[in-house]
Amino acid sequence: MLEQLQQQPPDKILDLMQTFKEDTRANKLDLGIGVYKNENGQTPIINAVKKAEKILWEQETTKSYTKLTGDSDFQTVMKELIFSDCVSEDTISTAHTPGGTGAIRQAFELIRLASPNSKIWISNPTWPNHISILKFLNIPYSEYIYFDKKTCELNFDGMMESLKDTKPGDIILLHGCCHNPTGANLNNEQWKELQKFLCNNQLVPLIDLAYQGFGDGLDEDAYGVRLLAKKCKEVILAASCSKNFGIYRERTGILFTISENEKIKNISSSTLAFLNRQNFSFPPDHGGKLVTLILKNEELKSSWIKELNEMRLNMLDIRKSLAEELRKESRSNRFDFLETHRGMFSLLGATKDQVLNMREKHAIYMIEDSRVNIAGLNKKTLSKLARAIIDVGI
Ligand SMILES: Cc1ncc(COP(=O)(O)O)c(C=O)c1O
Repeated sequence: MLEQLQQQPPDKILDLMQTFKEDTRANKLDLGIGVYKNENGQTPIINAVKKAEKILWEQETTKSYTKLTGDSDFQTVMKELIFSDCVSEDTISTAHTPGGTGAIRQAFELIRLASPNSKIWISNPTWPNHISILKFLNIPYSEYIYFDKKTCELNFDGMMESLKDTKPGDIILLHGCCHNPTGANLNNEQWKELQKFLCNNQLVPLIDLAYQGFGDGLDEDAYGVRLLAKKCKEVILAASCSKNFGIYRERTGILFTISENEKIKNISSSTLAFLNRQNFSFPPDHGGKLVTLILKNEELKSSWIKELNEMRLNMLDIRKSLAEELRKESRSNRFDFLETHRGMFSLLGATKDQVLNMREKHAIYMIEDSRVNIAGLNKKTLSKLARAIIDVGI
């Protein structure tokens, strides 16, 4: 039987990691995988997480099963972190999932159950996993314009124009903040315009929030999410704690639905529990417990926010210095977009050949679409990148 399986294409990002590992050049630079790195190129455990792990080890008395949708305290603290006071208890349903990817997957399955003919609209480009999961689940999707490759900025007019082809009941997949891979984001005015359009055209937002706190701050990054949660009849939101708590391998994510009324909310809650049961039964508990301990303890919470802010400001600093360096190298301001982008990534708008040239000539690794991980740079390596960008003709 197994011989009938077909070789699957490797995940491009994981494949790149392997190629990087095998490269023996001492000056190689990895700007591929989306993991935060400090000045020394390490991804250390956040202090508050370490402390929470100690508390958990001391206090935990059982490893018995929790609820199918996870621990209620985790749901409460995450609801508060993401939505603040923008949603009513009567309309929100929640399920803890294995990572943000698990939340996206469950969201797609929920949409398929509720409305198999609805199309899901994704930004062009988007996080490649959105597309591969949609294809795997056989869910119809279309792309909306998002990014202007010439200016490397958001093409908001193009986005709104292409959304005119949607039909009532279609789902619009949005990145809550820190768009992956482009780094280009909607400003508050654009969120307002989009919200009106979604409501007027009976479209359902599905928001992927994987980088809250990595852009302009925890509340600032939730502006669009909270606006849609307040104004739209229905919202689906998939969030990840991987990046902002630095607990990538603990697989900690959460899925929310906001329904029109309490009756529908109850059905939605039961569906979330059902989907968890079918796919993996209980979600992994450890990461959720750490997040709960941190967010419920004032001291740990402020220590976490401090460290998160340091990471955020470090990325902004790198963006500023890289743009400055490129101003000098290119004698132009055509790379200033790097300073206005937010989050861990920026898309450079380079060709595949230029990206390969970077790898071969300069030992600089980035994703084929020219996405760079800004957090993979430091004061020394950003000059190397700036020179290489000009050298390969970007
Ligand atoms: C846009 C986006 N969504 C979701 C995720 C999921 O993250 P995880 O499954 O690691 O929590 C990621 C991670 O790279 C992402 O970039």
